Amino acid sequence: MVKTDVFKGRDFISELEYTREEIETILEVAFRLKEDYAMRRPHRLLEGKNMFLIFYNRSLRTRNSFEAGFAQLGGHANYLDADKVYTPAIKGMEKAYTTERVADVARVLSRYGDGIAIRIYGKPTGWVYGRGNEYIREFARWASIPVINMEDDMYHPCQALADIMTMKEKLGDLKGKKIVVSWAYSPSVEKPVAVPQSAMAISSFFGMDIVLAHPEGFELDPMVIEKVKENQRKFGGTFEVVHDMKKAFRDADVVYPKCWGVLRHIPPQAPQADWDAIGKLFDANKHWICDEETLKLAKPDVLYMHCLPADRGFEVTDEVIDGPNSVVFDEAENRLHAQKAVMALIMQ
Ligand code: CP
Repeated sequence: MVKTDVFKGRDFISELEYTREEIETILEVAFRLKEDYAMRRPHRLLEGKNMFLIFYNRSLRTRNSFEAGFAQLGGHANYLDADKVYTPAIKGMEKAYTTERVADVARVLSRYGDGIAIRIYGKPTGWVYGRGNEYIREFARWASIPVINMEDDMYHPCQALADIMTMKEKLGDLKGKKIVVSWAYSPSVEKPVAVPQSAMAISSFFGMDIVLAHPEGFELDPMVIEKVKENQRKFGGTFEVVHDMKKAFRDADVVYPKCWGVLRHIPPQAPQADWDAIGKLFDANKHWICDEETLKLAKPDVLYMHCLPADRGFEVTDEVIDGPNSVVFDEAENRLHAQKAVMALIMQ
């Protein structure tokens, strides 16, 4: 466990900006808080503190786990719907008396409270990959209080913490365990790539063998993949890309089949989002569904994971998500404990 002072005042924007020891410390605190919550041992670690939750996109788990978690630590969280306030905007995205520059919003909120958390990806960013992350970094640049990423277009680090916490709970030491991060079909094409990228990023700190499975055209950000490989050179584990879900699932310890979007058909790789081309790619791959037959190719006690919400009947069958291998509600629960640990450490 590292000295907890090292967390004080830091932002939590990407898991890749933390060391393995720091991530392990966050998890240790999260497990402790989970046990204390189960034993009804209350904590007032953030008594009298306020934080601001800014959502540009919808949410069930993130909003409620942050609000509940902050209250459980003795603080109060304000929910801000980005469309119902002067929408925080970066230079170039502004509209008179409708938006307010992020630099100004961040400095105002810093006078009122102790932390800002933001979710932004997709439509509010004009579907420009990386712009959501740019927004959050702009908040961090101007805020004098910690900023937390509640999912942007590159990373979903709080989900990643809950995912690795769940894997550790179920499997213990993760070294040499095979995780398959797989694309799965959904009729909704407007999906970010944050969850699969963060799932791979966090797994790369723990020596896991990572298989990335997707049809041609659904490639993830090469920069993130390079960081994953860089971690694996330090901590062990292998990395492989496979274009066949069934082949990828063989002997897996963990499968994480989840729909994501197409980077090659949105800016900056394309001049503008080409929804026709994206739709055609999706339609050609409807057979990428996690069903019982496919799951049987993995180890018998394989963990089926999904960040939720799942597109049932498309990404996964009811039999799998409601079956004995599914740990999706443990993942959802662990959002609460992992985020409480992050907030307690950086907002101490
Ligand atoms: N997994 C997740 O982030 O869920 P929400 O979209 O409901 O917040």
